[in-house]
Amino acid sequence: MGIRLADRALRLKPSATIAAAQRARDLRAQGIHVFDFTLGEPDFPTPRHICEAAEAAIRAGRTHYTPSSGIPELRQAVSRRYTERGVGYAPNEVVISNGAKHALHNVLSVLCQDGDEVIIPAPYWVSYSALVELTGARPVIVPTDEAAGFKLRPEQLQAALTPRTRVLMLNSPCNPTGAVYSEDEIRALGEVLKGTDVLVLSDEIYEDLVYGRPPVPPVASLSDDLRARTVTVSGVSKSFAMTGWRIGWAAAPREITAAIEKLQSQQTSNPCSISQYAALAAVTGSLECVEEMLGEFARRREYVAQRLAELPGLSARQPDGAFYFFINVSQYFGRNSGGEPIRNSIDFATACLNGAHVAFVPGLAFGTDGYVRMSFAAAFKELENGLNALAEWLKTIE
Ligand SMILES: Cc1ncc(COP(=O)(O)O)c(C=O)c1O
Repeated sequence: MGIRLADRALRLKPSATIAAAQRARDLRAQGIHVFDFTLGEPDFPTPRHICEAAEAAIRAGRTHYTPSSGIPELRQAVSRRYTERGVGYAPNEVVISNGAKHALHNVLSVLCQDGDEVIIPAPYWVSYSALVELTGARPVIVPTDEAAGFKLRPEQLQAALTPRTRVLMLNSPCNPTGAVYSEDEIRALGEVLKGTDVLVLSDEIYEDLVYGRPPVPPVASLSDDLRARTVTVSGVSKSFAMTGWRIGWAAAPREITAAIEKLQSQQTSNPCSISQYAALAAVTGSLECVEEMLGEFARRREYVAQRLAELPGLSARQPDGAFYFFINVSQYFGRNSGGEPIRNSIDFATACLNGAHVAFVPGLAFGTDGYVRMSFAAAFKELENGLNALAEWLKTIE
């Protein structure tokens, strides 16, 4: 009997960041020390008080189904958090999901269908285009350039709009570039959308991780028009080092959250009950733990920026948020490493992994060749030794 998979499954590409991490693991399995800078998660343990809340939830027997949109206390806490950040979302305008990625999938699933278009500025987080394609809609990738800080300009948005455009995806702070839009830049994009029925899907998962500038306000807080047309996605994964707990959320006008509620109730029921209590402790607790992690990220960012500036042929903008450098490696294209040609970012990342045992994610995975993404969510010593190994390897490129 031949097994026939659905076209949807056949078209799906594996996540490129996960694939890059796998190649690094394969080398490690051979006993080789790999400087793994592919990781998209904080390397800190989840703060103690959050783990204790989970332990308490288990002891209290909170180990059963919850309402499928999340426990009311957590929806309320997220709602309050947005009020404090300048945008009023009622608790029923918040749906708790299994991580921000699940929330993004839910939102796209209830908004998009065959024939629709979704505008995605590139470089973009690897999963965006795959999640859009799963709905039957078409990703419309709009390249941004380094000179413009990797930010979408209003005239580019205007040019990409068609009668089929349903959603504009924004991600500030951005993975992979670390770009952070200013309030005026977001408002200018919002102006272009005025009078259309295009929604903004704002992925704010890195909102708490910004450097040397004021906190990033939610896009939905910037004008009444943006409040009405924005779906906000965020969660606890990055801010609180809670990637494995799988808690994220979508906040949006009630019509949208009601549709997500229906979808989620049929699809996954509720997110893990214990994780929800942990997330409640995170969202309602002191932000001191976030500040401590941010301080350490800031120290590493300074260090990596300084080291990269010393390396010949590489250049990188200082990221304003998140924990990635998007390094321009295009000066090495057309050259050779160990007899193999470096034609693109995949060749560069592969040669670097083989030659220096330093793992990066190729820019092509984010829709932009010419770059590799370096995560600085790694121990300081690893950054130091990894950058030393990189420096030595660069000298061997012919
Ligand atoms: C831009 C962006 N959005 C969403 C996510 C997913 O977050 P979660 O782990 O909560 O699903 C990530 C994780 O890497 C990300 O970088």
